[in-house]
Amino acid sequence: MAIPYGRQSISDEDIAAVVETLSTDWLTMGPKVTEFEAAIAQRAGTTDAAAVSSGTAALHAAYAGIGVGKGDEVITSPMTFVATAATAALQGATIRFADVQPDTANIDPAAVEALVSASTRVIAGVDYAGHPVDLDELAVIARSAGAVLLEDAAHSIASTYRGRPVGSIADITTFSFFPTKNLTTAEGGAIVATDDALLRGAREFSKQGLVRDPARLRYPDEGAWHQEVHEFGINYRLPDVLAALGLSQLTRLDAFKARRTAIFERYQAELADLDGLGLPVRRDYVDPMWHLFPVRVKDGRRREVFDYMRANGVLVQVNYIPAYWHPVFEDLGYQRGMCPVAEQFYAEEISLPMFAALSDDDQSRVIDVLRAALA
Ligand SMILES: Cc1ncc(COP(=O)(O)O)c(C=O)c1O
Repeated sequence: MAIPYGRQSISDEDIAAVVETLSTDWLTMGPKVTEFEAAIAQRAGTTDAAAVSSGTAALHAAYAGIGVGKGDEVITSPMTFVATAATAALQGATIRFADVQPDTANIDPAAVEALVSASTRVIAGVDYAGHPVDLDELAVIARSAGAVLLEDAAHSIASTYRGRPVGSIADITTFSFFPTKNLTTAEGGAIVATDDALLRGAREFSKQGLVRDPARLRYPDEGAWHQEVHEFGINYRLPDVLAALGLSQLTRLDAFKARRTAIFERYQAELADLDGLGLPVRRDYVDPMWHLFPVRVKDGRRREVFDYMRANGVLVQVNYIPAYWHPVFEDLGYQRGMCPVAEQFYAEEISLPMFAALSDDDQSRVIDVLRAALA
């Protein structure tokens, strides 16, 4: 059987949790969502979290909650899934791509600093492969620019930075619970913030903009049915059925992390002697939950190695095409060559299978096939 690059781990308990929720009164907008939000906040080291329907929804709601709009600039990494930039562009912002560090592929604070202007509204870092960005340096730049620091932590729930959980440091942090991610709700995501007003704005946007808090109603005497929209929003709610899956998955998050760490360390040990291959690095001040195992294939051999591995049952992936290479950005005038370090990284990168349910035998097969490809 072919080995995917990522896949979910679903237990009997996960299935039971979903089935049980299906026979309650609350398929959506119920207690499982509230419970899941509290559990995510606890893991992220915050007081609250907003559950939403995807990582893309989390980003969109975060930008909307910040108030990003026309005339604003958002500085982000090109080494990401396009949603990090696309959702800000949908709000009308201009995207400025800052180049990445050659080893971590995370946004380079020096490149960010060079792009800061009076219009900078958000600096959006992406924890590539699960390795946190340089949050302290980015926070200093964001503060002096009067901008919000957003962390796209789609890859990095349960990672830590200088001993603190991802989610507890940036102004606002977004997670994705897509099946290949570190935990899943099928589709899903969440937002946490260190600033309550930012979380409130994002949450409201994800619930059609509805305001129910009596203290904030413009017309408080209408009756118990009354609710108001003060800003337009979208329905990005996560249903209880999926929150139940997330809650069940969360009980195994530490086990997932331990297994991913073991897979990471075995790849490092058994691939270290391969000359034509670059391996991922870890800064000594982070403890990542590894979402990807990105290797770099030298000597212009990436395509050949990728095709060989796929043809031999190892369904490797490439993460990512630089975001501004997408035709939608090209049509806006973004040109290739803008972030040469990211482009070089992309030209060499292959993501090897990395997921908690990867067996030792399957990892051996991945290593053998990669060795054969490079021989
Ligand atoms: C870095 C990054 N940001 C955002 C997303 C979007 O998440 P989702 O697929 O849950 O919408 C993903 C996942 O695809 C991602 O990898």
